[in-house]
Parts: sequence; C-alpha cells; structure tokens
Amino acid sequence: MPENFRALVTEETAPGQFTRQIRTRSVDELPPGELLVKVHFSSLNYKDALSAMGRPGVTRNYPHTPGIDAAGEVVSCSDGAFEAGEPVIVTGYDLGMDTAGGYGQYIRVPSSWAVRLPAALSLKESMIIGTAGLTAGLSLHRLAAAGVRPESGDIMVTGATGGVGSIAVSILAKAGYQVVAVTGKESETEFLHGLGARQVMSRDDFMRNSDRPLLKERWAGVVDVVGGPILAAAIKSTSYGGVVTCCGLAGSPDLPLNVFPFILRSVSLLGIDSAHAPTDMRQEVWQQLATKWRPSQVMESAAEVSLTGLEEKFTAMLKGELRGRTVVNLAEA
Ligand SMILES: NC(=O)c1ccc[n+]([C@@H]2O[C@H](COP(=O)([O-])OP(=O)(O)OC[C@H]3O[C@@H](n4cnc5c(N)ncnc54)[C@H](OP(=O)(O)O)[C@@H]3O)[C@@H](O)[C@H]2O)c1
Repeated sequence: MPENFRALVTEETAPGQFTRQIRTRSVDELPPGELLVKVHFSSLNYKDALSAMGRPGVTRNYPHTPGIDAAGEVVSCSDGAFEAGEPVIVTGYDLGMDTAGGYGQYIRVPSSWAVRLPAALSLKESMIIGTAGLTAGLSLHRLAAAGVRPESGDIMVTGATGGVGSIAVSILAKAGYQVVAVTGKESETEFLHGLGARQVMSRDDFMRNSDRPLLKERWAGVVDVVGGPILAAAIKSTSYGGVVTCCGLAGSPDLPLNVFPFILRSVSLLGIDSAHAPTDMRQEVWQQLATKWRPSQVMESAAEVSLTGLEEKFTAMLKGELRGRTVVNLAEA
C-alpha cells in the first residue's frame, strides 16, 4: 500500500471562491475508521457537484475531497467485517460530505458504511448505478411496498434524463411498469424510449394549466427528483390512492401545494433518503439492481471520466444539462 495517493481537492481560496486541483495526499491524513478501501471507481451525483463547487448545504469544511460514492477493494478492516481484497461499495452517510470521499484513490470509513459488491456487478457497473441508482431503486422498492403494481397504471418519472431519473425509467420498465418520462430535454426522447419509457412528455406540456388545486387523475405512482411546482403538479395529477416518491430538489426545495390530493384522493407522499437507508434494505436493493432490475441501457450509455475530466461536468450537472450517468475512473489520477 502506498503512503501517498492522488485526490481531487476543492479549496476555498478567498471567501466564497472555490477552486479544484488534483493533489497528492497521504493515507495518514484520512479520517479514522475501521475500513481502508482502495477506490477503483466513483461516480458523479448532484451532491458531488454542489460540494465540489463550494455551494452551501453539503460540505462545511474545506479543503475537501468530494465523492459520495466509492467502489473498490478492501485494504484492511480492523473490526473483521470485511476481508482484505473483498470488493465493496461505499455510498452515503458522510462520505464526500465532510469525510474525504471517492474522488481520492483511498478512503477510510466506518465499516458500517460499506456493503458487499453483488456477484453480478463489476466495480465499474456498481458506480454507474451509484447513489443515483440506489435512490431510484429505493423509490421503486417503496412504491412496490406501498402496493403500486405494474397493473395499477402509469408511473411518471420527472427529471427523466438525469442520473436518478434515467435509472428509475430503466428499472421501472424492467420491473414491468408502464413508464411516462417527463423531461426538459425533448432532444432526448429517443434515449428515454430506449431506456424503456412508453411515453415521453415535455416538461412544458406537463406543466401547462397545472395551477388548479386538483388536476385530471393520471398516475398510479410517481418518482420525482425535481421538487417545486413539478412535484406539486405530479401530486395533484396522481390518481385516487396513488403513491408519489420525493427524493430531490433539482428544480426547487419548495412544495407549493394544498392538502386536497391527500384528503380527497388519498394520495401518499413518501420521502426517500439513500444516505442513511438501513444496511439490509440497501443490500436488498443492490441485489435487485444487479439482477432483475439491472439498468443495462444506462450502463451502456454512461460516460467515463478521470479526475481531471470531472471539472467540466460539475457546471453542466448543476445546470441540469447532463444525460444519464458519469462514472469516475481513479486508475489514472
Ligand atoms: N434523497 C436522496 O437520497 C438522493 C439521492 C440522489 C440524488 N438526490 C437528489 O435527486 C436530484 C437528482 O439527482 P441526479 O443525480 O439525478 O441529478 P441530475 O443527473 O443532474 O438530474 C437532475 C435532472 O432533473 C432535471 N432538472 C434539472 N434542473 C431542473 C429544473 N430547474 N427544473 C426542472 N427539472 C430540472 C433534468 O432532467 P430533464 O432535463 O430530463 O428534465 C436533470 O437532468 C437532486 O436534487 C439530488 O440532490 C437525492
């Protein structure tokens, strides 16, 4: 094991001014934890872009190495939870928030933050899925647990070309659901059909005349990543007894809504958090993502970058311009 490794480091050079460099760091500088992992792949999530660009709400202390996802091999594990050489996935908790994350070639974390890599996934495939895919998987898991079945009716996915959205479209279709994808990128209609969407709707069309307190009943379920007026319109157009999951704020953290969909249509709103989801639920969802729900088309269309290639992706991600998933290869840092 080398004493030093390469990592992307975000620094605050002046109040409110942030820059990113690839630096040499020492394993000794990593935080305490039972599990030392040599990271082979990481991924790009919305939170990573926020942390790397110094946006408020994710990382409090800089200099900092972002990366809320990491997959690699165990170097050592002092509590015996994992064997040296075992492939593991580490996502969520404080990784990449205020704990040095997956944009470094080594991480040290509590062993409870890791899950075993499912046999049917490579390390790279696990990071194409990443936190975005785990979140999409948890959303599907919760919809199904709430009784939404493929025969219940259409499921709408918002922010459909993004990381969570594209995997949600793909795995819902794999699980037999009829998916309606809502997107701001009409140019990606073919991409979304390729993922398994039965219908693709433009964001503008979906939002037209959506100010009324209740809208025509259309969805048995919704996976929303956008928040704000789009989530409100989704809830207002959910059919009687339908279920809406909410995991993101790519559009807005607000929810401009009244109570009518809940008290007149028995609609349920479920919150999804991947960062602290219980280990047994994560392990189960990872297993489904590796097999039955395997998002093959998202895997084929994923972009791969090295640490240096990340810089241009951060801005594009915060503007909502990226499509699908971006995996980060740590081999050539
Ligand atoms: N709760 C959790 O555990 C959890 C986990 C992962 C992610 N998230 C959250 O989920 C959201 C999506 O994450 P992601 O990784 O999928 O990000 P992403 O790849 O950037 O995708 C977000 C998508 O939302 C749409 N969008 C972006 N800006 C928008 C706007 N202003 N108004 C309406 N739609 C907009 C775009 O899709 P279209 O152009 O196709 O509409 C965009 O591609 C983020 O808010 C993230 O923080 C939460």
